[in-house]
Amino acid sequence: MSKQPIGIFDSGVGGTSIWKELNLLLPHENTIYLADSKNAPFGEKTKEEIIALSKKNIDLLLSKNCKLIVVACNTATTNAVKLLRETYNIPIIGIEPAIKPAALQTKTKAVGILATKGTLSSELFHKTTDLFTNGVDVIEQVGEGLVQLIETGMINSQEMTSLLKMYIKPMLDANVDYLVLGCTHYPYLIPQLLELLPKHIKIIDSGEAVARQTQAVLKQHALLNNAKNKPNLQFYSNGNIEVLASLLENNITIEYLDF
Ligand code: DGL
Repeated sequence: MSKQPIGIFDSGVGGTSIWKELNLLLPHENTIYLADSKNAPFGEKTKEEIIALSKKNIDLLLSKNCKLIVVACNTATTNAVKLLRETYNIPIIGIEPAIKPAALQTKTKAVGILATKGTLSSELFHKTTDLFTNGVDVIEQVGEGLVQLIETGMINSQEMTSLLKMYIKPMLDANVDYLVLGCTHYPYLIPQLLELLPKHIKIIDSGEAVARQTQAVLKQHALLNNAKNKPNLQFYSNGNIEVLASLLENNITIEYLDF
C-alpha cells in the first residue's frame, strides 16, 4: 500500500505551493495533484458547495487508488474537513492559517491575516483564532480577486500590486509584525509582498507544517514509501494547463481532465 500515491487537491493552482513542500520533504512519494481551476474560487462559494466540490475531488483521487489525501486548500479545510474525515475511511490532512505561531511570536501584539471569504467566515477559523489570540489584535482581510488573478496567470500584474497595497494598508496602520497567508495560492505573492512590506514584518504560511504532518501521519499508518526510485508525479487540471505549468518545473507533465 505504501507505493500508492498521495492525493492532493485545491481549487486550482495554489495547492502546488503545498505539493512543493511535500515533494521536498518526501521526494520518493508518488503523488496525484488535482487543480480544480474550473470551480475556482472556492472562497466565494457556500459551505455546502465547498463540501460537494471537495467530495467530488476526493472521490476522483480515491478512484486513482490514493493512500492519503491532502486538502491543499484552506477554504476547503476550514469548511469541510470535519465532514470529510467522517465520510472517508482514509487519512485526510488539512491546512489552516498559521494564526497560532503568529499570535505566539508577535511583539507588537498585532497580526494580519489574508485569506478567502470562505476561510475567514468559517467556524473552524473563528474557533482557532479565539483559542490562540488572546490579547492580540487580529486584522482580517479578505483577498478578494487575488485567486482569480493567479488563476489567469496575472501574478505580476499592476492589478495585483494595487490589490495587495490596498489589502495590507489596514495591517500596516495597525502595526502588525506578522502577516499570515491563509490561502495556498498566496505564497506565490511573497516576492511582491516583500517589496511592499516594511522589512520587520514576517510572512508566514502553513506549507512546511502540512508536509511534516503528512510525513508523521504516513509513518503512523506505516504508509511511508521507502522505495528510493524516481516517483510518479501526476498533475490533472480542468482549467488552463499553461498557468499550472508556469508554476512547476519544465519536466512535469500536466494532463487536461474534465472532472
Ligand atoms: N487555495 C485555496 C485556499 O487555500 C482556495 C482559494 C479559492 O479558491 O478561493 O483557500
